Amino acid sequence: MTQRCKFAAGNWKMFGTSADLSHVDAIAQAARDLAGIVTVLCLPATLLSRAADSGLALGGQDCHTASQGAHTGDTAATMLADAGASYVIVGHSERRSDHGEKDADIAAKAQAAWAAGLTAIICIGETRKDYEAGRTLDVLRTQISGSVPQGATPQNTVIAYEPVWAIGTGLTPTSEEIQTTHAEVRDMLASHTGDGADLSVLYGGSVKAANAAEIFALPDVDGGLVGGASLKAADFIPIMKALAAS
Ligand code: PGA
Repeated sequence: MTQRCKFAAGNWKMFGTSADLSHVDAIAQAARDLAGIVTVLCLPATLLSRAADSGLALGGQDCHTASQGAHTGDTAATMLADAGASYVIVGHSERRSDHGEKDADIAAKAQAAWAAGLTAIICIGETRKDYEAGRTLDVLRTQISGSVPQGATPQNTVIAYEPVWAIGTGLTPTSEEIQTTHAEVRDMLASHTGDGADLSVLYGGSVKAANAAEIFALPDVDGGLVGGASLKAADFIPIMKALAAS
């Protein structure tokens, strides 16, 4: 029996202040009424403890590899957990490009997340250059083998496939491409690690209400990691509903 779950995960990136907590509450309210999906909001670290009593599952957007130490400006997974998170995104392409994070760093962050009791949402995805050169699967294979640690289980790890060229651009691969890539990713995960085939694999990159139902209907897509369209309850709730109906 598969242990895959359906996830509606929002990634607020560096957006959101206390004025936006009303959206967290509205999303939490909608989540209570929807059966069969897990809704997670990955908030800026500054908002986590403020949103902790919303009842929604919360996540951070990055963590350090160490549980504490002299690392000015960084946040430990233990601190995210203490602030109310139960998930953390690691290896988002914006971290890979803005902060030069490599696969080995991401694997170490995922292990730090596990040690703190968090579920790691590990992101993978090819650049436009790789996509155009037909290297997508090679890139994903390398990222999986380098950034998904052995010991990944459906309880401690979720994978998000996010083509870098689809993030924030309004562009997406075709549904056929998404399905084919997700099936390949699942095969790669299965051969990489024991429980790999059972991990939930989310699609991310310009998911919105208008395309959510079509993407979530694909058999190897277990939900979405949603950036821009997760910031406002009015945009995200229809996406959650499309997932619940899929
Ligand atoms: P987007 O971002 O939905 O705004 O394209 C997705 C992400 O970066 O996680």
